[in-house]
Amino acid sequence: MSEMNKQWLLKSRPHGEPTLDNFEYAETPVPEPGEGQMLLKTIYMSLDPYMRGRMNDTKSYAASAQLGDPMSGTGVSVVVKSNLDGFAEGEYVVSQTCWQSHSLSDGQGVMKVDPKNAPISTGVGILGMPGLTAYAGLLDIGKPKEGETVVVSAASGAVGSIVGQIAKIKGCKVVGVAGSPEKCAYVVDELGFDECVNYKDADFAQKLAAACDKGVDIYFENVGGIVFDTVFPLMNDFSRIPLCGRIANYNMTGDPEGPNKLPAFFGRCW
Ligand SMILES: NC(=O)c1ccc[n+]([C@@H]2O[C@H](COP(=O)([O-])OP(=O)(O)OC[C@H]3O[C@@H](n4cnc5c(N)ncnc54)[C@H](OP(=O)(O)O)[C@@H]3O)[C@@H](O)[C@H]2O)c1
Repeated sequence: MSEMNKQWLLKSRPHGEPTLDNFEYAETPVPEPGEGQMLLKTIYMSLDPYMRGRMNDTKSYAASAQLGDPMSGTGVSVVVKSNLDGFAEGEYVVSQTCWQSHSLSDGQGVMKVDPKNAPISTGVGILGMPGLTAYAGLLDIGKPKEGETVVVSAASGAVGSIVGQIAKIKGCKVVGVAGSPEKCAYVVDELGFDECVNYKDADFAQKLAAACDKGVDIYFENVGGIVFDTVFPLMNDFSRIPLCGRIANYNMTGDPEGPNKLPAFFGRCW
């Protein structure tokens, strides 16, 4: 039997946290590239927090995933067949592969990956969207200065891990926030942050305040929720908050109860 295209389709839109029932596995014939197209075979597929937003049918900076289609997503692929100038069989690319083993592309929005530069998986990591997000968010919006204190949430994640390392290169004191002792140890011992605080600890606020004894000059915001609420009172005059994401709120099904509507407000920023 010839190779099939293995796909995960979006079957229904999640209400709150996604479940397996929202998706359907399918196998379809591998498509033939037409004129001006190439056939790609996925090698690495990235699973990113932004995908939760794509599952909704709401106004956003990017189009929603359509029901019945393979779920949106970026991957590193190899060119299997090409009828497209500038792309040859065997080359590696980063593109919107979606959640499937094979995809067609007309080259729009496709980035080539050179395996001589770095492992090709970095095309969806430090040399891809998360790396670019960390680089631009910290340097262009955060504008770190030597000696400043930078707090990074989701510190062990794809974006946060890079933000903290760039902030260290810039001579900052870097404090990570993560959700387990193991992640905090990784953030300090392997990524080289100065400190890391577990936001699930009962004394999180006291530990964060102690780690940021000169206040916070940049808070690189990836999560929202209680982490934002705890960092915010520590912000210094003229401090900056690159608002990159708010993963704690992505599964919210309505406005939060109580007087704090900030998560809802953030949600309307994009
Ligand atoms: N603006 C942009 O262009 C852009 C681009 C890329 C990413 N982003 C955003 O940046 C953020 C990080 O993305 P990423 O790719 O680095 O993510 P990631 O590698 O998937 O890491 C996400 C981490 O967030 C933490 N988290 C999840 N729920 C949380 C909660 N309720 N409270 C606190 N932390 C929570 C978890 O770590 P713990 O175990 O430590 O809790 C999780 O491992 C996301 O909000 C994403 O949407 C934005």
